[in-house]
Amino acid sequence: MAQTQRKILVTSALPYANGPIHLGHMLEHIQTDIWVRFQKLRGHLCTAVCADDAHGTAIMIKADQQGITSEELIDGVRKAHTADFNDFLIGYDNYYSTHSEENREISNRIYKLLRDNGKIAVRSIVQAYDPEKEMFLADRFIKGTCPKCKAEDQYGDNCEVCSATYTPMEMIDPRSVYSGATPIEKESEHYFFKLPDFQDFLAKWTRSGTLQDQVANKLAEWLESGLKEWDISRDAPYFGFEIPDAPGKYFYVWLDAPIGYMASFKNLCDRTEGLNFDDYWAKGSEAELYHFIGKDIINFHALFWPAMLECAGYRTPTGVNAHGYVTVDGTKMSKSRGTFIMARTYLNHLDPQYLRYYFAAKLNSSVDDIDLNLQDFVQRVNSDVVGKVVNIASRTASFINKYFDNKLSPKPVDTMVDFCIEAGDRIAELYESREYGKAIREIMHLADIVNEYIAKEEPWKLVKTDNSPLGKAHEVCSIALNAFAVLATYLKPVMPNMVADAEKFLGKELTWDNRTELLFGKEVNKFKPLIARIDQKQIDAMIEEGKEAAAEAAKANEPAAAVTEETELSKEPIEAEINFDDFAKVDLRIALIAKAEHVEKANKLLKLTLDLGGETRTVFSGIKSAYKPEDLEGKLTVMVANLAPRKMKFGLSEGMVLAAGPGKDEIYLLEPHAGAKPGQRVM
Ligand code: MSP
Ligand code: ZN
Repeated sequence: MAQTQRKILVTSALPYANGPIHLGHMLEHIQTDIWVRFQKLRGHLCTAVCADDAHGTAIMIKADQQGITSEELIDGVRKAHTADFNDFLIGYDNYYSTHSEENREISNRIYKLLRDNGKIAVRSIVQAYDPEKEMFLADRFIKGTCPKCKAEDQYGDNCEVCSATYTPMEMIDPRSVYSGATPIEKESEHYFFKLPDFQDFLAKWTRSGTLQDQVANKLAEWLESGLKEWDISRDAPYFGFEIPDAPGKYFYVWLDAPIGYMASFKNLCDRTEGLNFDDYWAKGSEAELYHFIGKDIINFHALFWPAMLECAGYRTPTGVNAHGYVTVDGTKMSKSRGTFIMARTYLNHLDPQYLRYYFAAKLNSSVDDIDLNLQDFVQRVNSDVVGKVVNIASRTASFINKYFDNKLSPKPVDTMVDFCIEAGDRIAELYESREYGKAIREIMHLADIVNEYIAKEEPWKLVKTDNSPLGKAHEVCSIALNAFAVLATYLKPVMPNMVADAEKFLGKELTWDNRTELLFGKEVNKFKPLIARIDQKQIDAMIEEGKEAAAEAAKANEPAAAVTEETELSKEPIEAEINFDDFAKVDLRIALIAKAEHVEKANKLLKLTLDLGGETRTVFSGIKSAYKPEDLEGKLTVMVANLAPRKMKFGLSEGMVLAAGPGKDEIYLLEPHAGAKPGQRVM
């Protein structure tokens, strides 16, 4: 088992210090934390750091509105963020702030290296300016009437009604969102990082295995269309670091934000024996470095950041791991529906481990969005965690306590526990590659096997006939609890508190490697219930609180501009997309429903005989609840003609027909406009 100890540094994106942590953020921190706990459980030296992203206009303005200093604002927010993460069992080794001396120092050093390498250009640009507030205005801090469709109250860069794009000064009646003043145009000097000089470096770096394929493909498109110089300065007043030798000019928040990863780590090194900054950041370092981020900030982490590091002579990341967005019940989180759920609101009603489990069960290594379906959440957590895993212990532990003096039987001839142990190598690979959903599926599959074993042996009956030590009942309970210990080990990264309680019961600290050290012949402690079921009432109460909070905020009339930071380069998320070739692989055809019949003993299926203009196909389709067979005959529809045939209980299904709707009695078969002919290809 002995493997060499890896040195790993892990980060999550630094949340803005101008608002509370919500469940969208939590997805990222949970994904990161599971990975970090897994590495630690395997015995690696894994360090996780994060921080608040404390700079920028949005924070300055928000503090101004609250009548406090920016420092006071970010201190308060940092306390709240830290509490949220602690209570969600997110175990950062350091949670720092970008507004720190370490960050100022490293940012200055890196900037000077970029400058001395000739990679900083200085030139004047013209920008909108608020003459009352005496500050420059990014596009999204200006509102006015769309010059094209005349829609009012639109942002300064594009119209949400007609999608027109324009500059703020082209708008009718543009206004600063801060003062209401009419902006004027004003010139000032800006500092630019010469990103195009890194075109070749980035073309190679983004293809070096550091990025997900999907991400690398998207970046290749951007790289092909050419990179632009990156504006890294902002004029005073700005809450941030002043640029060396450039009075009145500040680093744009996105310059010092990723450097905040280094600063947080540096701060930790300075108070931790044996942890050395250069071991992790010097060029040629053998330590691994991973950034976990959302899909909206990929360009900052996979273009600007590696270019800066390369130019300043540091190492670049081993991996940039992007995840998708959280949706709730299939749609974007919404304040009015109460589904824009703050971490604290969740914690007021539910155990954090439920969400950790649910996100784990849904996460994979892609940038696909993750849906938190509240009904599925309750059902899944209750049936998997309580009904499967905890159930193993709760059906057997009390017998060990009651009849066998807390002692497990000696090792019997058994293959099931060994089977659970062996699965660990595969599960480890899945955690390692961020395929948590697959890892959870494997673990639940093992839990099913163990539960079937218990159900078959019925220890509750056995103890009635023979509860002598070393008897069958003793053996069955001991096997079950050993299997439980192995499964608890696999779940430890996801549900740390529950497993800590399991460890107390088992009298053993579980690690990945010591799962082979069985507990047969050993003593356990008194079993206490490990985790409760979720009650739908808790969910309802959480949503209610979410709605109330949203109504409060609406009353306080928070200006929208104060909640988001400007990102002058598109934060356009990378969507999970297929290319045309992928799409073209699907052979869609017009099909005539020649015959439709009931299928004996099938609750949902109808048997369709489809005519593809000469060729005939049989398809079993789950549309019985919505259609009478006689109503379908003679109609045209669309089918997938090159789907691999599927053997079903009732016969071979040679394709599928396309339908819309939520299911049950709401199923709507697609039908082409009049004139389409059976067999025609659909594109
Ligand atoms: N401050 C920058 C990051 C700087 S990193 C050097 C930022 N902050 S943020 O607060 O807007 O977002 C922090 C992280 O949370 C990002 O990775 C972002 O993708 C993620 N998420 C924010 N909302 C999200 C969802 N609804 N779903 C999933 N993740 C999302 O960007
Ligand atoms: Zn418009």
